[in-house]
Amino acid sequence: MEISPSIISSDLLDLGSQIRECQNAGAGSFHLDIMDGHFVDNITMGPDMVSAIRKGTDLRLDGHLMIERPDKYYKSFIDAGCDVLLIHYETPIEVGNFLKKLDNENIKYGIVINPDTDIKKIYRFIPNCEIVLVMSVYPGFSGQKFIEKSLEKVRALRKYIDDNNYSTKIEIDGGINDETGKLAAEAGADILVSASYIFKNGIARSIKKLKSL
Ligand code: DX5
Ligand code: ZN
Repeated sequence: MEISPSIISSDLLDLGSQIRECQNAGAGSFHLDIMDGHFVDNITMGPDMVSAIRKGTDLRLDGHLMIERPDKYYKSFIDAGCDVLLIHYETPIEVGNFLKKLDNENIKYGIVINPDTDIKKIYRFIPNCEIVLVMSVYPGFSGQKFIEKSLEKVRALRKYIDDNNYSTKIEIDGGINDETGKLAAEAGADILVSASYIFKNGIARSIKKLKSL
C-alpha cells in the first residue's frame, strides 16, 4: 500500500524535518492540498510553497488542485515541481478539453471525484490518468469523518480498471485512519492519502501502520 501524507496537517514551522520523517517511515509520495477559497471554503498553499517542498524531497509530489481555474494556474504548479496534477471533475471548466490539453504537456495527471459525483462520469478519462482519486470527504478541510459510501466507488473502479487492464492507480482521500484505511485497502485502493491521522498520531508510527494494511 502506498501512503501519501497530506502536509496540510503538518507542523508548518517544522516542515522540512516532518517531510524527512515521512520519507524515513516509508511514505511513497506527498499529497499537496492546494485550495483557492473559491472552489472550496479554505485557502492553503500556492506555487512558492510547492517549490520549497520540492527542494525537501525526491518523492513524487501530487498537487490536488481544489481551485476554480486549474486551466489558468496549472503551469505554475508544474514549474514549481508537481509530478502529478489531480484535477477535480467538478471544476467549472470543461474538464475533458483541459485534460486533452494536459496530454500535450509533459505532466502526468489524475481525475478526482467528490462524494456526490457518479463515477460513470469519469470512466472515459481513466485510460489516460495516472491516478483516479475518490474523495471520501467533501473537499476543503482535513479532520473530517470518512464517508463509508465512497468504498462502493473504490470497488467499482477496481473492477473497471482490472477488467480493462488499465494501469491507473486508485487513491482515496479524506478521513483515512487505520480502520477506514483497512476498509479502503479491502475495497481495492492502491494509495491512501492521510493528513490528520499521520500528523496528529506520531508520523512514523502512523505511516507504518497504514502501510501494513
Ligand atoms: C480535503 C483534502 C484532504 C484532507 C485529508 O479537502 O483533500 O487531502 O486534507 O485530511 P484528513 O486525512 O485529515 O481527512
Ligand atoms: Zn487532498
